[in-house]
Amino acid sequence: MNPTIKLTGVVKRFGKFTAVDGLDLEVPAGVTFGLLGPNGAGKTTTIRMIMNITKADEGEIRVLGEPMSEALQERIGYLPEERGLYRKMKVIDQILFFASIKGVDRKTAMERLERWIDSMDLRPWLQKKTEELSKGMQQKVQFLGTIVHDPPVLILDEPFSGLDPLNVVLLKDFLTEFKRQGKTVVFSTHVMEQAERLCDRIALIYRGKKLLDGTVKEIKHAYRDRVPLPPPVEPEPELEKIFIKAVEESGLSAPTAEALR
Ligand SMILES: Nc1ncnc2c1ncn2[C@@H]1O[C@H](COP(=O)(O)OP(=O)(O)OP(=O)(O)O)[C@@H](O)[C@H]1O
Ligand SMILES: [Mg+2]
Repeated sequence: MNPTIKLTGVVKRFGKFTAVDGLDLEVPAGVTFGLLGPNGAGKTTTIRMIMNITKADEGEIRVLGEPMSEALQERIGYLPEERGLYRKMKVIDQILFFASIKGVDRKTAMERLERWIDSMDLRPWLQKKTEELSKGMQQKVQFLGTIVHDPPVLILDEPFSGLDPLNVVLLKDFLTEFKRQGKTVVFSTHVMEQAERLCDRIALIYRGKKLLDGTVKEIKHAYRDRVPLPPPVEPEPELEKIFIKAVEESGLSAPTAEALR
């Protein structure tokens, strides 16, 4: 089967600076793929070239076997690094606007998103202006815009940034569900723990070049003699789990529409 995304010898220069330097990448279908690397490594530039927002100077990029086109763009759920919401628009209108530009009618959009809106605790906020939402809440709205057309391929640039631990867990659950549905997911992150838990395959980029590429298992195996193993630790609850428990035990529910009025 053809890889869902394939980059061959991709180069991007900004003036004299080479941001992406001869990158080869293959994302097989149905895989969750982590694009890792430090700040400035070239992750966003690579993602923007895959989406054809930035043109590659050299090399070839294929998505679902084709060069990127407008029709193809519509089959992808893209979450840009720079989140772009209309501050003055009501949340519900924002969501329906995203739906309409993807050719999804109101009824289908609301049916498709209903469950997500509830699990994200967004329902009480639907009639509020976007600017009244916290940054993390806005990110969730943007995420709904990314998935409203039920795309087979998701490309998410730093989807976890700005989310609290509860919402990190929620997003991880969503990504796991997407994988179960057979969707191909590519996301960039700096957080190795997220990559380790979620990704089938990862690539590590540094200064525009690929240093590592493979399954998490393969990579760990290749490095097991060169990287010290962690010391044995007493099992203790994870802070993330404690955070969730404390919120549950507080007895405070998410704000209702009434409370927000
Ligand atoms: N439009 C641009 N003009 C000039 N240089 C750019 C431009 N976009 C990116 N760069 C440079 O290209 C390099 C790669 O940037 P990129 O945004 O792809 O990194 P990144 O891996 O996404 O980093 P981060 O983790 O901080 O998001 C950086 O050195 C950046 O300064
Ligand atoms: Mg980036």
